Amino acid sequence: MFSELKAQPADPILGLSIKYREDSNPNKIDMGPGIYKDERGHTPILGCVKAAEQQRFEAEQSKAYLGSSGSALFNEKITQLNLGEHRVIHENRVRTVSTPGGTGALRIAGELINASRPGATIWVSNPTWANHAGVFTAAGLQVKTYPYYDYDNKCLDFAGMRNALSAVSKNDAVLLHACCHNPSGMDLSQEQWQEVAALANRLGFLPVVDMAYQGFGSGVDEDAYGLRLLADSVEELLYCSSCSKNFGLYRDRIGALSIIADSPRATDILYSVLLPVIRVNYSMPPAHGAAIVEAILTSAELTGQWQQELRLMRERIAGMRQLLVDKLQAAGVDRDFSFITRQNGMFSFLGIDANQVQQLQDEFSIYMVGSSRINVAAITPTNVDYLAESIATVL
Ligand code: LMR
Repeated sequence: MFSELKAQPADPILGLSIKYREDSNPNKIDMGPGIYKDERGHTPILGCVKAAEQQRFEAEQSKAYLGSSGSALFNEKITQLNLGEHRVIHENRVRTVSTPGGTGALRIAGELINASRPGATIWVSNPTWANHAGVFTAAGLQVKTYPYYDYDNKCLDFAGMRNALSAVSKNDAVLLHACCHNPSGMDLSQEQWQEVAALANRLGFLPVVDMAYQGFGSGVDEDAYGLRLLADSVEELLYCSSCSKNFGLYRDRIGALSIIADSPRATDILYSVLLPVIRVNYSMPPAHGAAIVEAILTSAELTGQWQQELRLMRERIAGMRQLLVDKLQAAGVDRDFSFITRQNGMFSFLGIDANQVQQLQDEFSIYMVGSSRINVAAITPTNVDYLAESIATVL
């Protein structure tokens, strides 16, 4: 059966952590996967999560199956967190299912599109998260790209994006990052979101929003601006959210897929197609992460604690952006890295070439994605001098 298979390379993001773990250099830095780290370089379990887990340990009554959509209460609460008091909720035009992480939501979204239009095209930003193309291709879709990041000027190529989207067919889907664009950290302004929403409305393509970092940019509601505007502007929309980063539940694999259609009846039909798509895939989502998020979002006290902990993570990352830029300057680098402070969320591109990325790995044990994407949350007051000096050396 398997004798013809060829060995595959390690995953371009997750493979870095394996190499990092095997590295014995005490100064090593893992800037690969998008995982929050505190100023000691640890990925903590949030206090609100610990409290909710304690409650769950005492209160959980059964481990019977929940069904393909997961917990109804989690689905309701996460929809409110994502959409706020949006009219589509009151119009009964949105249904949400819990999924195994944001990736599970993306895969199911892709399969739902494929169930309706086999082999449909989905447009993704250039660049985008390294796994997007693989997930959508595996779901049967054709993946094409639209311009997004201007590598030379370290800013958004909005003119290029708008041009490309203006030619998208109404039978295509367009993937948009709600906030904290992965990998560039460059987000659309509110005015640019308005243009994209107007285009989606006029051309009729299906927006698919990936919101993996809600709360890591400017705030929970601010980061959902584009998503909520699109939900106001189009008749059909899919969006994927993740609790990996903002609740720190990475390994518990909890996210959600929400579907919006133009009437309650149309939404019910779409939902009825979605459930068997899940059933033949992973049958039903894991329950633990959903129960934790549900406990937090149904308690005013835990919600307040969560917002506070999320704010601290967001502010620490923003602080490290500025610190890195300052330290690069102090290390004698004359290239302008100030763009790092104008980007959002966990990621930025350093804008160095593949050889320099490799040199940082081989000579300094600093691990980043080959595109020079760094996880800014991996920077600490302790490692920033070593990082800046190492970058200065390879430059
Ligand atoms: C990342 O982009 O680093 C994260 O989303 C983790 C992953 O699964 O790739």
